[in-house]
Amino acid sequence: MTQTVYLNGAFMPIEQATVPVLDRGFIFGDGVYELIPVYSRRPFRLEEHLNRLQQSLDGIRLANPHPRETWTALIHELIARDENADQSVYLHVTRGVAKRDHPFPEGVPPTVFMMTNPLTTPPATLVEQGVAAISAEDNRWGRCNLKAISLLPNILLRQLAVDAHVNETVLFRDGILTEGTATNIFAVENGVILAPPKDQHMLPGITYDLILELAAAHRMPVEIGKFDQARIRRADELWLCSSTREVLAIVTLDGQTIGDGHPGPLFRKMYDLYQDYKHRVMRAAS
Ligand SMILES: Cc1ncc(COP(=O)(O)O)c(C=O)c1O
Repeated sequence: MTQTVYLNGAFMPIEQATVPVLDRGFIFGDGVYELIPVYSRRPFRLEEHLNRLQQSLDGIRLANPHPRETWTALIHELIARDENADQSVYLHVTRGVAKRDHPFPEGVPPTVFMMTNPLTTPPATLVEQGVAAISAEDNRWGRCNLKAISLLPNILLRQLAVDAHVNETVLFRDGILTEGTATNIFAVENGVILAPPKDQHMLPGITYDLILELAAAHRMPVEIGKFDQARIRRADELWLCSSTREVLAIVTLDGQTIGDGHPGPLFRKMYDLYQDYKHRVMRAAS
């Protein structure tokens, strides 16, 4: 079955979806995107993802091409056209097609593209054993709170992890924990979950918010603050999270064990809370 995508008002086979070379997404990386996990054909935390899309569009001063109801209808239509029950919906808005020039073009419609792919959540072995990570200096721009399609810095930093045969690169800006290249990061110290603040140095993750919500609902103490490398390396536990990787324990950082080198008790608790929440929400929606 060929993959169906959405481009500028029409659903079509992916092979037919083409964009002019002068699209500002292609020329400048001038656009924003979202990625929404879909379980049993139901988008997870859709409102939160559409809120963040609006924030990203506002951040790059691009008018939202669709009202909320249109996005919701398009997303459901795309999900229905895919054979997989569990999917990830990718949506992408650029500043459209115009003669190459830095200033915003006037009167140009944005390019809107959407596709779905099969969703693969982490295998049980990764959940049980945890993952390895390396660290690197966070040398990205100062507006990492926007989900911009220009991901070159994230790609270069992620490739460091691939080259080192580990799962993720944990980023520190001037020695302070920010996030991963495509994940948010939490640590645990003496039973307290440590979380970097939602500022311009990290993407406000939908999973990050859910983890803090679950922690609050289950009276797990949280400290939001700026944590330096030494403190993170000494932490009892380290976690990464995202919509597709859910929550995983990082058990080594730059080859040094975190805690006892195994996923810790708070990780197990949070992983179970996350799975329970997901199944509850999905049941309620059915
Ligand atoms: C840089 C970055 N941080 C964090 C995340 C996690 O965000 P979410 O939980 O919304 O998937 C992502 C997701 O792609 C990301 O790219």
